[in-house]
Amino acid sequence: MSKTLTRKKAAKKPAKTAAKKRSSAVPRQTPKQKLYASLVVQLLSLLKDEHDLIANAANFSALLFNSLPNVNWAGFYFLRDDELVLGPFQGNPACVRIPMGTGVCGVAAQQCETIIVPNVHEFPGHIACDVASNSEIVVPLFDGERLLGVLDLDSPNIGRFDDQDAEGLNELVTVFVAHEEGLDR
Ligand code: SME
Repeated sequence: MSKTLTRKKAAKKPAKTAAKKRSSAVPRQTPKQKLYASLVVQLLSLLKDEHDLIANAANFSALLFNSLPNVNWAGFYFLRDDELVLGPFQGNPACVRIPMGTGVCGVAAQQCETIIVPNVHEFPGHIACDVASNSEIVVPLFDGERLLGVLDLDSPNIGRFDDQDAEGLNELVTVFVAHEEGLDR
C-alpha cells in the first residue's frame, strides 16, 4: 500500500514541474493589461475601413472615455503651426490652444515623451480645464519622427495612471497612427 502511494507521488511530480514551467514562461496579464488588450481589438474594429482622421479620433476618444474607469476627460490635441489645437474629445469643454512647453500637454509634446502626473495640482503650469481633474496622463503621437499631437486623459482620482496605462495607451496610439499613416493631413 505504501509502495503504491510512493510510486503515484513520484509519477505526478514531473507533470507538476512542467505545469509550473509553463506558467512562469508566459507571464500572466493583469486585469488592466487585459483591458488594454481588449481595447486594441475594439479600436481596430472601430477603425476598420474608415480613414477620416477626425471621425477615427472621435471614436477613439469615446472608446477610452467609456471603457476606462475613473476618467473624466479623454481626447486629442493636434500639432498645428507650433501649437497644440484641440481635437476630438469626450468630457467637459476644454482650452482650445496650448503652446508647446506649456501645461502637461505642451511639455509632453515638447519633450516627446509620455508624462504621468499623479497630482496635477503639483505640476508647475498645469492647465486646469476641468476642476474635477486631479491626475493626468499625456501620450505623444508620432508618425515616424514627426510629432502629430498628443492624447490626453484626466481623472478625478489622485494617482489614477501608472506604467501599465502608459504602456497600454502607447500601444493604442501606435495602432491608431499606423492606421492613419499615409493620409493627407
Ligand atoms: N491639463 C492639460 C490641459 C488640457 S485638459 O486637461 C483637457 C494641460 O495641463 O496641458
